[in-house]
This record gives sequence, structure tokens and C-alpha cells, in this order.
Amino acid sequence: MDKKNRKAIIAGNWKMNKTATEAKALIGELIPAVKGAGCEVVICTPFTDLATAVALCKGTNIHVGAENVHFEDHGAFTGEISAAMLVDLGVEYVIVGHSERRQYFAETNETVNKRALAALNAGLKVIICVGESLEQREEGVTEELVRMQTKIALKDVTKEQMKNVVIAYEPIWAIGTGKTATSEQAEEVCGQIRKVIGEVYGADTAKATTVQYGGSMNAKNCDELLGKADVDGGLIGGASLKAPDFAVIVNAATKG
Ligand code: 13P
Repeated sequence: MDKKNRKAIIAGNWKMNKTATEAKALIGELIPAVKGAGCEVVICTPFTDLATAVALCKGTNIHVGAENVHFEDHGAFTGEISAAMLVDLGVEYVIVGHSERRQYFAETNETVNKRALAALNAGLKVIICVGESLEQREEGVTEELVRMQTKIALKDVTKEQMKNVVIAYEPIWAIGTGKTATSEQAEEVCGQIRKVIGEVYGADTAKATTVQYGGSMNAKNCDELLGKADVDGGLIGGASLKAPDFAVIVNAATKG
């Protein structure tokens, strides 16, 4: 089974939640709750929580990620954070191209690509988010859109670097709305993403790349979604802020 050869990854995206003090408490609950995980466990936290998260997660099976990264190495970019800054802190993963960044912070396919390249070149693992709006789904352009987002995000990313790339399919209409994609919809689009990766990098890379689903995944619907052949994990928003719920999802991914 191809799925068995891929790393299942459950990643929490805390978004703009949790002060460093609150992060300490949540990580304290998470460590025992996920310690038996058979999948990779990642928490992506606000920049201000990263140092705390790295320190607390050291020696545990929880990997730490950021939620964004700038594409320049350094310079006059007030308020931005470089890949080198994240690496120096001990951060391992970074999310790029989340739809909230695209929607509220003018992120484009091109800047997503630049951020992904900067992160990969610095040695970070990237979780690249793609996904359609409700309007785009209703217009029947989901496949074209997601293909385009995936291809542009991966421009100039080498086959070797693909070992450090995760793609997260996050339909915008399912994020924070309680409206989850059906497992068939998630499977269909995750499969299309894998197909594009195959066209660009070959079947071996397509088979080896982790493709996650994200969008209102929770303790109740995770079994069904994670049971699908092309869904290798989840990018979890709201449910990642509650340790018991996040642990249920981690255990569901462990079962596959
Ligand atoms: P929710 O799980 O809150 O819908 O958020 C999903 C998401 O955007 C993860 O990146």
C-alpha cells in the first residue's frame, strides 16, 4: 500500500491563539496525550510562542513549526521573520500559503513559492496550503485551481527538496465553518494534488509525498477522512487548541 510508505502527519495550526503562558499550559497537556503516536505530530504556533514550544517539546515526539516565513534572508522588512531566524530557534516546520494569508495579507501564488523556496533552502520542512473558495467549487474550477496553486508553489523546488514538502488541501469554505469536506471530496482533491506532483516529479515522488486535508477536521470526523487512501494526515485549526481532541485525531492517523 502506497499510504503505508508515506509519513502520516497531524499538524496543529494554532493561528492567532495562545499567549506564551497559555502555550506552556497547552503543550503540558499535549505531551502526555500524544506520546504514543504512530504518526508525526507537529504544532505550528504564533512566532511569540515558538521559543517556549521548542524548549518544552525538546526530547518529546512533538515537532514545532511556524505559521509563516518571509522570503528574504534579512533586511528592511519591518515585522517579518526570516527562515534563518526560525532555524536558529530550533523550529523544524513552517506553513506557507494558508488561505488566511492569501485572503487577508495579499499572499499570491508567486509569494507562496518564494516563501516555500526560502524555507526549503534554509532546511525547513514546509506545509504548503492550497484550496478553493465556495464560489470556485460551485463554478467547477476546483481541480484547475488546485493544480495551478500546487504547480506554482513548487516552481524551482527540486525533487530532493520534495522530501521536505507537505501539501495541505484546505477548502476555504470548510475552514472554521464546521462544514467539513466529505471524505470523498477530500480524497478526490488530495488525489488530484498527488497527480500533479507525479506529472512534475515522477510517480516515486508522488507516492512518497504527504498530502493532508484541513478544514473543520475534528475528533468526530477524523476517522472517516484519515481512512481515505490519498489523505495522509491533517492540518487542524480549532481542534488543535484542545489537547484531548487533538490527541483523538493523532490516534486516528496512527491507525491510518
Ligand atoms: P479549522 O480546523 O479551524 O477549520 O482550521 C483549519 C485550518 O485552517 C488549518 O490550517
